Amino acid sequence: MSRFSLGVGLLAVAAGVLAATPAALNERLAAYRASGAGEPSTNRGAELWTRRVPSPEGAPRSCASCHGTDPRQPGRHATTGKAIEPLASSAQSDRFSDPEKVEKWFKRNCTWTWGRECTAQEKGDFLAYLSRL
Ligand code: HEC
Repeated sequence: MSRFSLGVGLLAVAAGVLAATPAALNERLAAYRASGAGEPSTNRGAELWTRRVPSPEGAPRSCASCHGTDPRQPGRHATTGKAIEPLASSAQSDRFSDPEKVEKWFKRNCTWTWGRECTAQEKGDFLAYLSRL
């Protein structure tokens, strides 16, 4: 293989990795729209991120309880104390590249944090915020 074709091959691999996240993200946003959500809003996502909701034990919970107020920084799990990698895709490039993972954690985290599942609109707002930080 010539040095040139090796270079082209590596570039193609790099482009594939970079393209993976936006494609999966756009697929999620299209799915939310299909289930009735309007345009996703970065500002609303930022507001929702720190919205504090009383828990059954009384202490208010928010997404920041585990992921921190700045999602570009690592977080710490509120109950287990385990470290959590940053959630912002600018800090952690493989975020939101697996739709099943995204939905699994939305379901689990919204239920723990707010006592209910997030709506399609809220999920779109979160992803807009977390992918544009
Ligand atoms: C009790 C702790 C906790 C809270 C509170 C929490 N999360 Fe998480 N979240 C986690 C853990 C643990 C993971 C999985 C580990 C990882 O992906 O680093 C995760 C993963 C995620 C993922 C998947 C990311 C990916 O790579 O696809 C999303 C999306 C997410 N959280 C959103 C939220 C939102 C939105 C809120 C607030 C409604 C929230 N989380 C509140 C602990 C929490």
